[in-house]
Amino acid sequence: MEAIGQLTGGLAHDFNNLLTIISGNLEMLEMRVTDPKAQILLQEAQGATDDGAKLTGQLLAFGRRQPLNPRLTDLGQLVSSFSELIRRTIGDRVELRTTIRGGGNEGLVDGPQLQNALLNLALNARDAMPSGGLLTIEVNRVHLDFDYAQMYPQLRAGDYVLIAVTDTGTGMTDEVKQRAFEPFFTTKPPGLGTGLGLSQVHGFVKQSGGHISIYSEVGHGTSIKLYLPRSGEDTEALPPAPVRRAPSDRRHQTVLVVDDEAGVRDFASEALVELGYDVLSAGDADQAMKLIEDNGDIHILLTDVVMPGKSGRDLAEAVHRLRPAMHVLYMTGYTQNAIVHNGVLDTGTHLITKPFTVGQLSEELEALEQD
Ligand SMILES: Nc1ncnc2c1ncn2[C@@H]1O[C@H](COP(=O)(O)OP(=O)(O)OP(=O)(O)O)[C@@H](O)[C@H]1O
Ligand SMILES: [Mg+2]
Repeated sequence: MEAIGQLTGGLAHDFNNLLTIISGNLEMLEMRVTDPKAQILLQEAQGATDDGAKLTGQLLAFGRRQPLNPRLTDLGQLVSSFSELIRRTIGDRVELRTTIRGGGNEGLVDGPQLQNALLNLALNARDAMPSGGLLTIEVNRVHLDFDYAQMYPQLRAGDYVLIAVTDTGTGMTDEVKQRAFEPFFTTKPPGLGTGLGLSQVHGFVKQSGGHISIYSEVGHGTSIKLYLPRSGEDTEALPPAPVRRAPSDRRHQTVLVVDDEAGVRDFASEALVELGYDVLSAGDADQAMKLIEDNGDIHILLTDVVMPGKSGRDLAEAVHRLRPAMHVLYMTGYTQNAIVHNGVLDTGTHLITKPFTVGQLSEELEALEQD
């Protein structure tokens, strides 16, 4: 992706210069030509250079070569004032909910470019919900700790403003998810998508020093999370967040981790070991049930909600019948609101939102035991 970015960015840059020369000369010709028919021909040519400039703009954004004009911006305010335009763009069939949590959601970003990115995400969401649905935009402060940052090259630990755009649409297959940021990757019919929307968003977020992630489940929906550095502070200078260890009486408790994504399973397992738990893991609900039947001493079930095959919720219900005392903590890539409102989970259920940090996991596990 890095290499494609450099190549496209460079190409787009040169191409933009050529377009500038072409359109500038067309403009001067237009002033000199009096024949109305020739005027029309010139206008058509000018229209095409405008389209070309739009395209190179998107490619420049992907290649992180777009001139950005970062200003200290309240991102909560930006989202709420922009939501009216988004509402009009997505039409009546899609309901829009925005949640701005707390203050201090300030970041050093290029406002219009961020609006552009939000528009792209909203359009994708609309397209993914042809018969309507719910679009949620949430703004919140988050701290990405050292453990989380380590999983991604170039990501620094520190304070971020999280903007999560979640829909209840078709979702993406793994293949689509893998390629979604690639320029010109589209699953839409010709003329309906150029495949540049997400690449533009990706480039913009990276160029702004942020981080972007996709969570998606086929048939359930998609959540795109933008992490933008908060307040333009030098995030590098922040010390890594201290890892909270579980109190000693929790040691030797066993947690069963269930997730169909190996990466999540591995991270959660490592975090739990770090916190002093013993860990078992399973890739789906059936495998998990077998482990539970064979092991009488599993205390906590940490499970994904949406998985191929049986869902995390079905699993928890089955577990509850067999081992009523076992605690259940759900983890999901969807933001809490979206999940609760879509009725996938009941309120009062323990839930941790992916991506989570070791500290957050520790807190959730503690809260679990207090119930
Ligand atoms: N919210 C979403 N739900 C489901 N699939 C999505 C979503 N967002 C993106 N995709 C998938 O990722 C692909 C790439 O998205 P991207 O925005 O880059 O291009 P596009 O929407 O196809 O075209 P363009 O944005 O240039 O008009 C889409 O074609 C679609 O398959
Ligand atoms: Mg798009």
